[in-house]
Amino acid sequence: MKHFIDTQDFSREELAELIGLILLLKEADRDRALPELLRRRSLGMIFEEPSTRTRVSFEVAMAKLGGHALYLKPGEIHLGARESVADTARVLSRMCDVIEARTLRHETVLELAAAAEVPVINGLTDFNHPTQAVCDIFTMSEHLPPGRGLHGSTVVFVGDRTNVCSSTMFIATQFGMSFVHAAPAAYQAPEEWLEIARANAAASGGSVAVTEDVEDAIALADFVYTDLWWWVGQEGEIPERRAAFMPRYQVDEELIGRAPAHAKFMHCLPASRGVEVTDAVIDGPRSIVFDQAENRLHAEKGILTWLTYPTLTAPASPAVEADYAGRIHDYLGRVGWEVGAALAEEGR
Ligand code: CP
Repeated sequence: MKHFIDTQDFSREELAELIGLILLLKEADRDRALPELLRRRSLGMIFEEPSTRTRVSFEVAMAKLGGHALYLKPGEIHLGARESVADTARVLSRMCDVIEARTLRHETVLELAAAAEVPVINGLTDFNHPTQAVCDIFTMSEHLPPGRGLHGSTVVFVGDRTNVCSSTMFIATQFGMSFVHAAPAAYQAPEEWLEIARANAAASGGSVAVTEDVEDAIALADFVYTDLWWWVGQEGEIPERRAAFMPRYQVDEELIGRAPAHAKFMHCLPASRGVEVTDAVIDGPRSIVFDQAENRLHAEKGILTWLTYPTLTAPASPAVEADYAGRIHDYLGRVGWEVGAALAEEGR
């Protein structure tokens, strides 16, 4: 049984296999021919932080695949307060076929995975966002210039070293892309991320770099990616962060105008319009942000199926189903109430 905690846990070949499945499921969905691969299966979705795309994409993906999803938010389950993370994982494993978790701390999702008896999917932590990364590499593969592949293409990530920055850096270098992080020195990717990305690049033929020189970096970009400059819990740092990034690292028309004409603009969303990106760019002709958002749905269908399908036991044969249905209906319809009344009379 595999968990989906980090794209680094998978080889490039495995990730390519997943991307192929996502494409097939997207096409089947478009043609209204999606098979119910996860019929009657349940997904438990733990969210310690708010979400639009991750929550909706997982829930809709399960419904489209014939299954069901439960939205479990803080205060509505006992996780970490009245029940340990491990016990929550054990209980959900007995009732659900797969668990998705967005947790404040990366350690929490690791703890869930260590105790769970079903696959656990990381829906974003303070370290990474692997389902977004899979969606993004798939989206980039759909928006390459004619005749080009991912290998040898360049993604320039502008702004803070967010969890999406780490995940994009890892998956891009796994696929042989050049990844450049353009940010003020204090907000650049740390050495431990760069070590991982360098190892990926050495194996794949890609490259990784960090720079403050956003103007020069963008001139080589096939994809320009940015993310929020601050997140929940960083509100106290807003003045210093704004001062560090604005105006040089805001993706506006002037900055993206330095990129080649074919370069696309990406953002995982939610965006702070007028902060890290202007309306003119996010709503402009280079923007693929809503294709990205839609692809979260197709990516979740692929991840859920790829991870869960091999571990599912085959459904009962129609004959066994019919036999059980007959016996249960018989019990309920013919003797059910009489048996119940007799047991109640006996005080059982
Ligand atoms: N990109 C992303 O994860 O969006 P949500 O926070 O809305 O899930």
